[in-house]
Amino acid sequence: MTSLTGRRVLVVGASSGIGAATAHAAAAAGAHVGLVARRREHLDAVVAGLPGHGHAVAAADVTDPAALVAAVDGLAAELGGLDDVVAAAGVMALGAVADTDPETWRGVLDVNVTGLLATARAALPHLGEGGTVVVLSSMSGRRVASAAGGVYAASKHAAHAVAETLRLEVGPRGVRVTTVAPGFVATDLVAGQDDARAFAGRMHDEGLDPGDVAAAVVHVLGLPPAVVVVEYALQSIRQLGHRPEDAS
Ligand SMILES: NC(=O)c1ccc[n+]([C@@H]2O[C@H](COP(=O)([O-])OP(=O)(O)OC[C@H]3O[C@@H](n4cnc5c(N)ncnc54)[C@H](OP(=O)(O)O)[C@@H]3O)[C@@H](O)[C@H]2O)c1
Repeated sequence: MTSLTGRRVLVVGASSGIGAATAHAAAAAGAHVGLVARRREHLDAVVAGLPGHGHAVAAADVTDPAALVAAVDGLAAELGGLDDVVAAAGVMALGAVADTDPETWRGVLDVNVTGLLATARAALPHLGEGGTVVVLSSMSGRRVASAAGGVYAASKHAAHAVAETLRLEVGPRGVRVTTVAPGFVATDLVAGQDDARAFAGRMHDEGLDPGDVAAAVVHVLGLPPAVVVVEYALQSIRQLGHRPEDAS
């Protein structure tokens, strides 16, 4: 099992789904975890369930760069520094471009692109040699799977480009940058959107468990400092149509 003993891992977007699972997996591997998201009560519930000790939470919105810097600086002070950051905050909205309110596009791009840049800007000053930035992109950052998912895919293609840029920016000082690109994962990423019920159902029926993605992130963090994983793309065999329970 990968050891992250003593590493200080910041997870942005840690109040649910993949971020919460990553906080748990990193803590189980021995890390001290700093958790950020908007919903303070969810963060408190996640941190209360983490194994180990020395974890801390701060509420902040990634679309407010000043608040994010304050939150990250505060967590770095509480944890005694930061070794790694996992940028997992994200939102999804579905809809054809011609039918969608521009405010919806802005909401997706603000969190998934500008919020990612703000997360990197807040965290990078704390990271040193051997540190890691993990950018939670998506298979939608590798290809456009449907017209309705086009704006989200555009945001995730941008996330891939941001990760490539950051790798060039911080690689020379020994900081690694990895894009993690999952297919469907069983989370509430599209919860609350009436028109997206069928899509949300597929994410839960066919998706990876959030813990599967968290295990990939922990594996990346635990590799020797000289190893840079450029991209870790993963999807569920169920999304490819295989139903293991039907095979028996
Ligand atoms: N589920 C999938 O099928 C899937 C597949 C590929 C990639 N991903 C990516 O994985 C990442 C995590 O998504 P998830 O599936 O785990 O969904 P999720 O359970 O909805 O988690 C999203 C996280 O982002 C946080 N967040 C959203 N807007 C934020 C903001 N403005 N400021 C700060 N935090 C914010 C949420 O916390 P608060 O609401 O408390 O702020 C939550 O912690 C996203 O980047 C998503 O695009 C998901």
